[in-house]
Amino acid sequence: MREYQLAVVVGDGIGAEIIGEGARTLHALAARRGDLRFTMREFDWGTERYLRTGEMLPADGLATLMGSGFDAILFGPVGDPRVPDHITLWRLLLPIRQELDQYVNLRPVRLLPGVRSPLAGVQPADIDIVCVRENTEGEYAGTGGRVHRGMPDEVAIQSAVFTRAGTERIIRYAFEYARREGRAKVTSATKSNSLQYSMVMWDEIFAAVAAEYPDIAHEQQLIDSLAARFVTRPASLDVVVCSNLFGDILTDLGAAISGSLGLAPSANLNPDRRYPSLFQAIHGSAPDIAGRGIANPIATIWSTSLLLRHLGEREAADQIMHAIETVLAAGATLTPDLGGTATTVALGDAIRAALPE
Ligand code: NAD
Ligand code: IPM
Ligand code: MN
Repeated sequence: MREYQLAVVVGDGIGAEIIGEGARTLHALAARRGDLRFTMREFDWGTERYLRTGEMLPADGLATLMGSGFDAILFGPVGDPRVPDHITLWRLLLPIRQELDQYVNLRPVRLLPGVRSPLAGVQPADIDIVCVRENTEGEYAGTGGRVHRGMPDEVAIQSAVFTRAGTERIIRYAFEYARREGRAKVTSATKSNSLQYSMVMWDEIFAAVAAEYPDIAHEQQLIDSLAARFVTRPASLDVVVCSNLFGDILTDLGAAISGSLGLAPSANLNPDRRYPSLFQAIHGSAPDIAGRGIANPIATIWSTSLLLRHLGEREAADQIMHAIETVLAAGATLTPDLGGTATTVALGDAIRAALPE
């Protein structure tokens, strides 16, 4: 019996609805297989706690995540209209990514069989991209400030921070990933025509690292036309490595061309395994549909597959993916974002029913 300790943060909005489905699916898979067990410790971190106590997470929250022997973290979306988003995110999710050194945000962009892309004539084989998003610095470094607040001469400065070490490790991860997963090409998202310091250094490092991987093709493209290429020629893309903000935007676009934001998963990885990695849907707390039981749980359930893969449970990870694909291909149980009328729980149940006996 292999036992894993998971930290579970439900989060805000649709968080409770979708994290419940992710957790139930992991337990169901464990019960079917008989060789896995998950112990889950739930944390109430998020907006309700903040409104009650003034803290999104307790003072020892990060230390708890780092030092309690957790194998991974399953995380719900956070953000609630009652609290400004930058307060929520800078007191909860973004410090976790930074302090736990989860420097890779791995985001598969795949059109699964049975799902209709809004792009005309596009088949599942045409969209199979993996975005490797830098996750601890760049535009999200969090450096800056405001002076003369509210005055006519107010100044706001938000500085992007690109370090050589941080840039090199994310680009190297993309090439290592391509090699390990049998992928042929790495495309670097750049903007070195206008960002003459950060992105010119990024390009230099990309060229130097690429030269160490002669077996992997490489190219770079300006982020604006690369965004257009996601729509016009997605089949021409394989692994895409990008800065924090570019990756954020490209992957919601990737989710949209793959049929729904409700499908797209992510892995916030600390590849050194010094700290636990964090798995979450790429979408937000969807306040517009929260509490209605209609959120698509697949992005979260797919994220649990990425979690299993990170734990080395490849077969179990594939079993969850297979169940998701079976249900989507059948097309009988779909949430409204996919054109159906099923509830969150019904879709989760259908996926669990499709797990191997
Ligand atoms: P969003 O992703 O929450 O929602 C965008 C649209 O997609 C909405 O119409 C929503 O209903 C729909 N949607 C999202 N997930 C869905 C699902 N699983 N099933 C069906 N439909 C789904 O983005 P937003 O509206 O820009 O942001 C809402 C809040 O979420 C904000 O507070 C934002 O800061 C926060 N946010 C949090 C995270 C995170 O914690 N990981 C990520 C993104 C946004
Ligand atoms: C994501 C989210 C976060 C990000 C927000 C909530 C800070 O949009 O995970 O994509 O921008 O990274
Ligand atoms: Mn995002």
